[in-house]
Amino acid sequence: MPDKILVTGGAGYIGSHTVVELINAGYEPLIIDDFSNSDPAVISQLERITGKAVTFYALDCNNPDNLSKIFREHPEVTGVIHFAAFKAVGESVSEPLKYYRNNISSLVTLLESMVNHNISNLVFSSSCTVYGQPDELPVKEESPKKQAESPYGNTKAVCEEILEDSFNAKIPVKSMALRYFNPIGAHPSSLIGELPKGVPNNLVPFVTQTAAGWRNELTIFGDDYDTKDGTCVRDYIHVVDLAKAHVKALNYLESKQNEIAHFEAVNIGTGNGNSVKEVVDTFEKVNNISLNYKYGERRPGDVEKVYADASTAKKVLGWKAEKSLEEALEDAWNWQKTLKKPE
Ligand code: WQD
Repeated sequence: MPDKILVTGGAGYIGSHTVVELINAGYEPLIIDDFSNSDPAVISQLERITGKAVTFYALDCNNPDNLSKIFREHPEVTGVIHFAAFKAVGESVSEPLKYYRNNISSLVTLLESMVNHNISNLVFSSSCTVYGQPDELPVKEESPKKQAESPYGNTKAVCEEILEDSFNAKIPVKSMALRYFNPIGAHPSSLIGELPKGVPNNLVPFVTQTAAGWRNELTIFGDDYDTKDGTCVRDYIHVVDLAKAHVKALNYLESKQNEIAHFEAVNIGTGNGNSVKEVVDTFEKVNNISLNYKYGERRPGDVEKVYADASTAKKVLGWKAEKSLEEALEDAWNWQKTLKKPE
């Protein structure tokens, strides 16, 4: 019987791509998702991609009774990958309590339930936002964590502290926090991809929606930064590469048979920095499209430059990003072309 893995937020952007890679690696994923920021149709798409039935629970994972129900029905669960969280940076500024209630409380609820059901492996979705503007680049895991630029970013930093404090208290959970850089792109099948609600905050979905005529024009936020072309630099990682890193992290925790508790945080990025303008130029080139864009004011809270030192992931997990920026932007556009503009 394959090991069962509970994937919270498994119908979401990164969660769904990780479900595919878990199945490819021989696991049986179980999804819990309240569909507050994802589409139930993703489940059938996952079944088309993998050829396997996917068990899901349309439930809130911030409810201990819901988790106990699942863990009682599936005693073969050996690990959890925790994606479920609100992630809109701007919204977190206007509604901080919603973010603290959901993002932090759900991790505590999950940890308590895992302990009650003797489930010890946890991969946690964290973010490079914990670094703020690093003093040195590429940014290493040992780099000091800075005061987050938003309540969203703060929830990620606090959740890492919860995992570290749990480890120090020898709570019997082995956890790894994956610090994502900028996930972009979509599954090559174009059956799953990013589904931002409303006006996208993130660059690449705004680019593809502009190319599709859903948006009139992209605004590049700031061209006066101290970078090669004046626009911000980020580490854009293909979502499929990011998904594969979660399987590697799970394998790594499973190998820690002789440990009761464990915690470490690992950067999951390509190690390359690309500017906003480079992303726009690359998108136009690989997709043979002319994008309508202009330069505007800087966006409050943006850091100037951040990209990963990804050597720990290579050394510890045996993982490195394999897909290029070009491939990610091609996959993103192919996915966008399958979508219908919401009424
Ligand atoms: C990237 C660059 C913008 C939109 C955030 C979170 C991070 C993670 C990913 C959740 C910046 C510029 C953007 C636009 C633009 N979130 N931009 N015009 O801010 O690096 O990271 O999203 O998991 O935790 O912090 O990503 O895509 O919003 O912005 O010029 O219309 O693109 O200024 O320089 P960011 P982003």
